[in-house]
Amino acid sequence: MKEILRKDIDRINAYVPGKPIDLVQREMGIKKVIKLASNENPFGVSPKAKKAIQKSLNEVFRYPDGSCYYLKNTLAKKLRLSPDNILFGNGSDEIIDIIIKTFLNAGEEVLTSQTTFVEYEIIAKANGFRENCIPLKNFRYDLDAIKNNINEKTKVIFIANPNNPTGTYVNENELSKFIKEVPKDKLIVVDEAYWDFTDVDDFPGTIDKINSENLIVLRTFSKAYGLAGLRIGYAVANSTFIKAMEKIRQPFNVNTLAQRAAQAVLNDDKFLEKTRKLIIAERKKIYQEFKKMNIEYVPSQANFIMFKTEMDGLALCKQLLKKGIIIRDLKQYGLENFVRVTIGKPWENKLFIRTLKKILKEEK
Ligand SMILES: Cc1ncc(COP(=O)(O)O)c(C=O)c1O
Repeated sequence: MKEILRKDIDRINAYVPGKPIDLVQREMGIKKVIKLASNENPFGVSPKAKKAIQKSLNEVFRYPDGSCYYLKNTLAKKLRLSPDNILFGNGSDEIIDIIIKTFLNAGEEVLTSQTTFVEYEIIAKANGFRENCIPLKNFRYDLDAIKNNINEKTKVIFIANPNNPTGTYVNENELSKFIKEVPKDKLIVVDEAYWDFTDVDDFPGTIDKINSENLIVLRTFSKAYGLAGLRIGYAVANSTFIKAMEKIRQPFNVNTLAQRAAQAVLNDDKFLEKTRKLIIAERKKIYQEFKKMNIEYVPSQANFIMFKTEMDGLALCKQLLKKGIIIRDLKQYGLENFVRVTIGKPWENKLFIRTLKKILKEEK
């Protein structure tokens, strides 16, 4: 049977998602389960988005508007760009796929970091391309090493900023220098899925660079905007790149409910501000708790924190799971002694810390 499959199929490792709550409830036989594993918004869905979804339910017998006309115009105004600078996708996952299909010729390669969002590598491989993943330096993207690894085969460079799973970021100076030094026939993709949670002054401004540089910026409605289940993200780039990517995307790639909900939430500044404030405040509180517990953590600009554990990370995650708390082990990245926890509601974070303390005490 196996002979019929693509020859390089074994090179691809399937994506491992955070366990869904109902699966853990079934497997563990417990009712109270909290999920701090997939970097979702702890506040759920914005009330404005909910209303927009309910209002558009009667429209779902029709195909969606493939051009996302109204949403694109709303976002363009917000970003002070032309609608021709924007492409929507079924999550930014889909846009990563569209980029690879649009830009890579046969034999060309993707360059990125080790210990970053795994979809860059998975999607490159799924499309039959090779990838080169450069180790991090002090848990950060090593832009010098990435630059030194560019060769004639390199076509697209993916940078997650802030990075997942480390939460570290590349600053304005570092990114500007990198963009300047990378040859103009290479594409740089800066994936800003967690952009809304940053609180540093030197975080790079990328949107104003897209018309002068070989740059695509990715953002998503899955994190701060609370629409992970609807699947919608976007790319911002010069109109030549966008036009080419428009040819590759599926004609109806963004469903009607996602378009309406995204438009509503773009106009819900209150929801976004509440989310941002909560995440940034809770991030600091969790740092304090980690310090008290002598836990080594990596300061994060995202809505998750990576931390070190004395015990095996997978074993810790299993223990937490038994107690109804889902977080992520980082075994697939070769980080056996690290785990990643998503910042939740204050009571969820307290419960997580309390449970973690108990488990670590029992281990001693
Ligand atoms: C860095 C990064 N980019 C993109 C995504 C995917 O986002 P979306 O839900 O828009 O496909 C994730 C999701 O975890 C992510 O961590």
